[in-house]
Amino acid sequence: MSNISTFELNEPLDMHLHLRDGEMLGLVGPLTSETFSGALVMPNLVPPITTKEELLSYKQRINAICEEDNFEPYLTLFFKNDYSYEFLEDIKNDIIAIKLYPAGITTNSETGVSSMDVEVLRPTLESMSKLGIPLCIHGETNGFVMDREKEFIPIYEALAIAFPNLKIIMEHITTKDAIELLDKYENLYATVTLHHLIITLDDVAGGMLNPHLFCKPIAKRPEDRAALLDTALKAHPKLMFGSDSAPHPKHRKESCGCAAGVFTSPIALQVLTQIFEEHGCLDNLNKFVSLNAQKIYNLTPLTKKITLVKKDFIVPSAYEYNYESVVPMYSGERISWSIKS
Ligand code: NCD
Ligand code: DOR
Ligand code: ZN
Ligand code: ZN
Repeated sequence: MSNISTFELNEPLDMHLHLRDGEMLGLVGPLTSETFSGALVMPNLVPPITTKEELLSYKQRINAICEEDNFEPYLTLFFKNDYSYEFLEDIKNDIIAIKLYPAGITTNSETGVSSMDVEVLRPTLESMSKLGIPLCIHGETNGFVMDREKEFIPIYEALAIAFPNLKIIMEHITTKDAIELLDKYENLYATVTLHHLIITLDDVAGGMLNPHLFCKPIAKRPEDRAALLDTALKAHPKLMFGSDSAPHPKHRKESCGCAAGVFTSPIALQVLTQIFEEHGCLDNLNKFVSLNAQKIYNLTPLTKKITLVKKDFIVPSAYEYNYESVVPMYSGERISWSIKS
């Protein structure tokens, strides 16, 4: 047993985050900006971010909410197949990547792409490749829910081969199959969430249904979780932490027609530290939560040192805002690491 009692994280980065907008942004923004140096912010607002004006004004709203913290939001644009080269060239310096959603596959993705055919996507992806804009993908087909990521593997492969100079990030991977692609194609990278390192479908629906663990892609099998955890603990250089923290109001989760998304921002660094400590891999945690992403995205984050202490943290049962609340993962439970204030 180790007897480590503090641990320092440098420039933690969350490379896949839903900050939402309006009052929800007001609540969840600071829960990330207090502890992370930066975050890659998803564009699936209602409507999604598809213009430079929307992008810059969203960035201003985020910065206004997070102004007390040394925090940098890295914004993304919602992929559309009709962006011109000139448009992309003009917006290039304001974004870190473009996020592609197959139409209708998850929250607010109705206007995503209706075809994943390489030839259909070629003009836009060639422009991105020339301009050096990375492509983030929510890689699921509309097949059987447990097989959606696996069925998307040939699409990842076709894109990786057709656009060898395009950096492609497989977002929130949940399967062993996706892990195997990392060592097969130079230009494929991935993010993995906290919850997919911990849960399987059993935790969601094996006993009483737990709506707070319901997300897309759905959590998979024990062997998938084992492969994800093993690859994260090793800090595989092509794998980055991306929480996919996706808050929804409590009444949208504890309801018939539960919205997909797990809210993990306020617990992410504490639980990651706990897991890496349990497996004797703390030496790899700074790579997994920061250094890998810095290399992959070529970024220099704002300086931020976060000290974790081995002291119990009782997770709040909910975070409240204006007659609404959001329930975090591990609501009301005890975590053995806290953030030193
Ligand atoms: C979400 C929100 O609160 O921003 N809205 C909702 O659940 N009705 C946005 C979303 O669904 O992604
Ligand atoms: O569970 C999810 N929720 N998966 C996604 O891809 C989107 C997210 C959301 O925006 O709520
Ligand atoms: Zn997604
Ligand atoms: Zn997401």
